[in-house]
Amino acid sequence: MKNILVTGGTGYIGSHTVLELLENDYNVIIVDNFSNSHPKVLDALETIANKKIKLFRTDIRNKEKLEQIFKEEAIDAVIHFAGYKAVGESVFQPLKYYNNNLTGTITLLEVMEKYSVRKLVFSSSATVYGTPEKMPLIEGEPTGATNPYTRTKLMIENILEDLSVAKDTWRLLSLRYFNPLGAHNSGDIGENPNGIPNNLAPYITQVAIGKLDKLHVFGNDYPTEDGTCIRDYVHVEDLAKGHVDALQYLETSKKGFDIFNLGSGKGYSVFEIISSFEEVIEEKIPYEITGRRAGDLPVTYADTTKAQNDLNWKAQKNIQEMCRDSWNWQKKHPNGFED
Ligand code: NAD
Ligand code: UD1
Repeated sequence: MKNILVTGGTGYIGSHTVLELLENDYNVIIVDNFSNSHPKVLDALETIANKKIKLFRTDIRNKEKLEQIFKEEAIDAVIHFAGYKAVGESVFQPLKYYNNNLTGTITLLEVMEKYSVRKLVFSSSATVYGTPEKMPLIEGEPTGATNPYTRTKLMIENILEDLSVAKDTWRLLSLRYFNPLGAHNSGDIGENPNGIPNNLAPYITQVAIGKLDKLHVFGNDYPTEDGTCIRDYVHVEDLAKGHVDALQYLETSKKGFDIFNLGSGKGYSVFEIISSFEEVIEEKIPYEITGRRAGDLPVTYADTTKAQNDLNWKAQKNIQEMCRDSWNWQKKHPNGFED
């Protein structure tokens, strides 16, 4: 298996995975419409990897174009990142999410079927566990969606499972990511959110760089030791490695469809994340406690036994390394790919 099509390969997780694939001697073909990424990501990737990378600027819902790519390239497997990911936005614009995430995936699967490419790794999310009753979260436990974004992830997992039942030559994997953090060790690619960040880490680094005044901590009255929410943060480079391990697993797997958690298995509170950033930045992060954010769970973290046993994958980087690398990227590129 040599030629890997990466949809959404210039996005945050996709770009780090592209580098990991290249390092492991895969050929990469990126498809991205730049709806949530910058065209300059390609330059950064080529500089870091020191090689040319093939990229098709197109929407994966453009079936004609996608077919052309499958006709021209001898694709062996697909890693499918392309989709919209903002939970809050999905509540207000559900059709945007159903259209892009579902139509995009169905179009991709139809083209894969037509060209007999039946290996796929899909980006799912820890949010599919809904409102769980116990931790850590284990694959196979009940799922639930509290917003359209998560519903698209669950629907896609169902579609993948149905496909594997319909034809036993499909090899389909769903990876449920916990909270990605960090950036490539070069500091030249990283998370580049549009507008004001929704997520904790980019918000903190933008406060530190002076783009935002202060962090709003969403609640300190949760039933946790310091009262703030606990999440499972995982370095984006570890996540990227998980995709290479997933591809290797698909080569020999007998299962048509399978699901894996990718997380560190450890939980950190909002205050602990602030402290870790303060250590690497060597400055205090100004913050204010505000009310809880609707829909936030007090505690989530993964059981990663299955990924360890079957994929031979385990997160290696600790929280200090995650914060250091996020900060390094932010400091080196205060305006993201505009710098
Ligand atoms: P991202 O927005 O940085 O990357 C997604 C990429 O897909 C972008 O480059 C965007 O331009 C592209 N894209 C979107 N729709 C497209 C379309 N129709 N055709 C072609 N390209 C398209 O997101 P990310 O953080 O890298 O996440 C990647 C995947 O992982 C997403 O599916 C997301 O839902 C999932 N995920 C992300 C997180 C997270 O916290 N980042 C957590 C869990 C799951
Ligand atoms: C969010 C998304 C989830 C996505 C995940 C990945 C929601 C409801 N969920 O989850 O789909 O997979 O990001 O990164 O949006 N916090 C603050 N102040 C901030 C931002 C966040 O206090 O400005 C707190 C939050 O309350 C939470 C923690 O920090 O307790 C982490 O938040 P965030 O980075 O948004 O991640 P999740 O809420 O886990």
